[in-house]
Amino acid sequence: MDEHGREAQSVARFNQWAPSYDDDGVQRIFAPLHRTTLDWVATLTTEPASLLDVGCGTGALLETAASRLPGARLVGADPAEQMARIARRRLPVGAQVVCAGADPLPFADGTFAVVVSTMAFNFWPRPVEGLREAARVLAPGGLLVIADLFAVGWLRPVAPMVGAGNRPRSRPAMGRLLADAGLRVVGWRAVSRRGPVPILHAVAATRR
Ligand SMILES: C[S@@+](CC[C@H](N)C(=O)[O-])C[C@H]1O[C@@H](n2cnc3c(N)ncnc32)[C@H](O)[C@@H]1O
Repeated sequence: MDEHGREAQSVARFNQWAPSYDDDGVQRIFAPLHRTTLDWVATLTTEPASLLDVGCGTGALLETAASRLPGARLVGADPAEQMARIARRRLPVGAQVVCAGADPLPFADGTFAVVVSTMAFNFWPRPVEGLREAARVLAPGGLLVIADLFAVGWLRPVAPMVGAGNRPRSRPAMGRLLADAGLRVVGWRAVSRRGPVPILHAVAATRR
């Protein structure tokens, strides 16, 4: 199967998952991860005017963002129409959800102050192109935060064996991909833990 076939198969799986996604046990992990990611965004920026969530799923992170950033333009993009449909239903009037994957993003250059992506990056079929698109739609100085399973710390040998989607990247590999996209890493942090043990991480980068 070629790349487009694999991509269509992946999107079809997410369309199937969409109706039960919000009741799935993974929400016990993802809901706090969304809050932690947005907490981190708040420490790295001041009141962003706009935020794009790439691979927004059913819009849970954007719903939390709506209560924290009442004046901000909130936009989600997801290639799985059934995910996007649920997100549209749950989000307040004014938020926008488009059916689109990470590349190409259907937005003009420099549109967003913040781009986030939680638990979706490892499903982007072309991560290099996706990161370039995220950089393109960010305003100069804008912030990108990607939360996912990465091969960092104690997870270095483990993550490549357990991750879904693409092989989880190491810290240096992500640094190289982000630099190639014109982004400068500003930090890493754990966004989900089991007890004291970090499980999921996020990397933040700014557009040069
Ligand atoms: C595990 S879900 C995460 C959804 C949401 N971000 C969250 O935190 O709950 C992965 C999401 O990535 C989306 N996705 C799949 N392929 C993608 C692509 N090429 N670009 C962007 N998102 C994609 C899926 O449709 C799905 O909604």
